[in-house]
Amino acid sequence: MREKVVAVVGATGVVGHQMLQILEARKFPVARIKCLASKRSLGKKLPFKGEEVPVEVLDENSFADVDIALFSAGGGTSKKFAPIAAAAGAVVIDNSSAWRMDPDVPLVVPEVNPEALAKHNGIIANPNCSTTQLVVVLKPLHDAAKIRRIVVSTYQAVSGAGIAAIDELREESKAILNNERYTPAVFPHQIAFNCIPQIPQSDAFADNAYTTEEMKMVNETKKILGDQSIRVTATTVRVPVFSGHSESVNVETEKKLTAAEARALLEKAPGVVVEDDPAAQRYPLAVHAVGKYDTFVGRIREDISHPSALDMWVVSDNLLKGAALNTVQIAEQLL
Ligand code: A2P
Repeated sequence: MREKVVAVVGATGVVGHQMLQILEARKFPVARIKCLASKRSLGKKLPFKGEEVPVEVLDENSFADVDIALFSAGGGTSKKFAPIAAAAGAVVIDNSSAWRMDPDVPLVVPEVNPEALAKHNGIIANPNCSTTQLVVVLKPLHDAAKIRRIVVSTYQAVSGAGIAAIDELREESKAILNNERYTPAVFPHQIAFNCIPQIPQSDAFADNAYTTEEMKMVNETKKILGDQSIRVTATTVRVPVFSGHSESVNVETEKKLTAAEARALLEKAPGVVVEDDPAAQRYPLAVHAVGKYDTFVGRIREDISHPSALDMWVVSDNLLKGAALNTVQIAEQLL
């Protein structure tokens, strides 16, 4: 197989950093890596396969020789540069929300809807982190019993909001423990020792009072599962966790699934690990999921308030399956 010239747009960011590590760890056939970022990063070097790769400033001419471009530099950058990269002949896999709901752009989780990749026109979208871990778990349940409605609440780590957010949680925690004053700059409120029900932090609530993160979960879940009839409601919450998103999920199905049946289906599902032995205090935990490629599910139980619904707890590393890993898996699928 011919090795590929791979560009990482946003290579200096939290997700870009993970993309470089995963390409290396999974031995993606890279002929040459291009690390692209803003002018701010000029002069920086990033490690890749034992070498120090100089960061290049992203511009209109960055993609002439690129086969695959992995984007994670925010929606505005993707909106402008993904079509430029695609026109130059690169296949773009975009981690931002810029293209996800475009009907001509496949929105892909390789374990769930790899067939959608066949229809791409040069741009492929990677879902929102909270959606990705949700759909890998829902897919086998939907295939077996047809999902009617999903009620999900998220407990999202700060790493999803970038390096500045990670620094803010660390510095604010230290300040509070030392009885010092701290003025938040990234989050609209104190995030240390607190929960904030507004993601993203800069979000103006939409007409229907949902945040854009919540509407991403609603719309992306239906698009990836290929079923607009599924009803979805979400509440997305930022919690003082550095990495690893957790989700409380209630799923109503057309055909009743017992907890044992659901567990058996999930045990066979690709990319999913069942951790479900509450008597032994065994269930998914964010701190255990960090650094892992899988999505973990546990606390699987029949909803006592409904004849045909299940409750469960779903955890994954938001920077890996939720972002960089899924992007690289899409690239692997393309090969
Ligand atoms: P830079 O480091 O040069 O600012 P994070 O979300 O972790 O903060 O990372 C965002 C990533 O997106 C960084 O690599 C950042 O580069 C990059 N980025 C942000 N804005 C632009 C832009 N206008 N052009 C190129 N890269 C950008």
